[in-house]
Amino acid sequence: MASHSACGIYTCFSIVLMPLLITPLCDGGKVLVFPVDGSHWINMKIMIEELHARGHSIKVIRPSTSWYIKEESPLYDSITIPENIALQNFLQIFLDDYIKAQREGVSSFTFLKLTWQFLSMLSVAHSMNCDMLAQIFHDESLIQSLLDAQYDLVLTDPAISTGIVLAKYLNIPTVLNVRWISSGDGLFAIAPSPLSYVPVPGSGLTDNMSFMERLKNMFFYSLVVFQERFMVGPCYKAICHKHIQGGCDTISLLQEADIWLFRSDFVFDFPRPTMPNVVYIGGFQCKPAQPLLPDLEDFVESAGEHGVIIMTLGTYVKALPNDIAEEIASVFAKMPQKVIWRHIGQRPSTLGNNTLIVDWMPQKDLLGHPQIKVFVAHGGTNGVQEAIYHGVPVLGIPLFFDQFDNLLRLQERGAGKIINLADVNSHSFDQGLKEVLHQDSYRHNMQRLSRLHRDQPIAPLDHAIFWMEYVMRHKGAAHLRTEAYRMPWYIYYSIDVLVTLLVAVTFFVLSTFIMFRFLCCRGRTSKVKQH
Ligand SMILES: *[C@@H]1O[C@H](CO)[C@@H](O)[C@H](O)[C@H]1NC(C)=O
Ligand SMILES: *[C@@H]1O[C@H](CO)[C@@H](O)[C@H](O)[C@H]1NC(C)=O
Repeated sequence: MASHSACGIYTCFSIVLMPLLITPLCDGGKVLVFPVDGSHWINMKIMIEELHARGHSIKVIRPSTSWYIKEESPLYDSITIPENIALQNFLQIFLDDYIKAQREGVSSFTFLKLTWQFLSMLSVAHSMNCDMLAQIFHDESLIQSLLDAQYDLVLTDPAISTGIVLAKYLNIPTVLNVRWISSGDGLFAIAPSPLSYVPVPGSGLTDNMSFMERLKNMFFYSLVVFQERFMVGPCYKAICHKHIQGGCDTISLLQEADIWLFRSDFVFDFPRPTMPNVVYIGGFQCKPAQPLLPDLEDFVESAGEHGVIIMTLGTYVKALPNDIAEEIASVFAKMPQKVIWRHIGQRPSTLGNNTLIVDWMPQKDLLGHPQIKVFVAHGGTNGVQEAIYHGVPVLGIPLFFDQFDNLLRLQERGAGKIINLADVNSHSFDQGLKEVLHQDSYRHNMQRLSRLHRDQPIAPLDHAIFWMEYVMRHKGAAHLRTEAYRMPWYIYYSIDVLVTLLVAVTFFVLSTFIMFRFLCCRGRTSKVKQH
């Protein structure tokens, strides 16, 4: 009885105290966010919403030409930097060329040309961002206000390095919301990444590589290094040189960041070495599905036992080439399923009455709906993570960036199938779609990934918020950083030690040899003399 009431008091106590225990000290931290536009903003905004809900105040730096990042928001205040050119045009022009080249069949020459074009486009994009950063540095009153505001934390996405340079200048603890850096996979910048089993993104390889594939992996790695050294890195280095004492470059700044909130996990990605300050938050953007709007719900329910197929190719693609859209529509028209297709551009003439064309769809709510059988997708990270979360198998049509690699991870685990855009015709699309629909292994494998992904001690978004507040509470997390980031390469690889040992051993062997020779020769000469 006594213990019972003690328990009651304890419970009562903890109910009162718990909120205090959960959010100590850092109530109302000040966070400066330097985001990347486009699909990257979608998941940065989810973090901002959560930070806002927990009482932190947020300032977002955005270019005036931003497509998605609104100037006015109840969640944050913004600082707008005037910009002239929008990046979206570059992407669309490149994509058109790219699709054309892919469909005409890719020779190694076209491949090189396209890679070069892609790298050039990237370096133009980065130099535009460097211009934006230069503008910030030239605006003395802005810089002063940023310094005066005394932010507790900079949260930035280092796909573009402007945020980390500014954070260094302002000398504020930095948390990265990261998967890609200016040159490929972020982890290559801090964690040991043996090329024997860590595939370089873009190579289309897995963690099980043959000799030729490892050769290819090495080639792609050298492309990444080339890109960082000669195409993307220099403009940031120039700004560092001008504004940061002692200079800096993208890689050294990344290595100095306090916490890496890494948008991946090992249910999705191939296992590889990691670091103490890397926190895996793959799928943090996923939430249980909300009910659909009545019209859409009616459409989905009307499919009956056959279920529904949904298709989207993401935010970057405005329009598929017409003939591809026609072929896809004709395949859909023959299916017994209902189809919801996010398609912008001309309405295909072969469209069936089972296909609903929309210009936007509540993707995550649909994926969470039990009627959805297959997700036809381009393989952007958000979509793939949501498909894993809800356990819906994927038929992937990758376009560019990381999309092929994302889809490959599903295909390797038997949870998805890839069709290259160049190979899409009514026959291949029909076959691929039916395979993913009717072979149960796809759904079972995907649902297994889903169960693994959900089986975590703490939800990825809570994990992310915990570490941001941790950095605010402790003014950084320098104790989690390895010493590796300060070392020149010959120390990192212990080349100096190896060379010293090699010299010592050589010296020992050589001197022993000389000594023996000397002794033995002396013996022989004395023998000769005795005779
Ligand atoms: C790796 O690939 C080789 C050749 O493709 C295959 O024989 C082997 O079974 C694979 N190993 C694993 C662990 O999947
Ligand atoms: C849709 O098309 C199919 C075959 O083309 C036809 O049998 C069916 O009646 C049509 N349904 C509606 C609602 O128009």
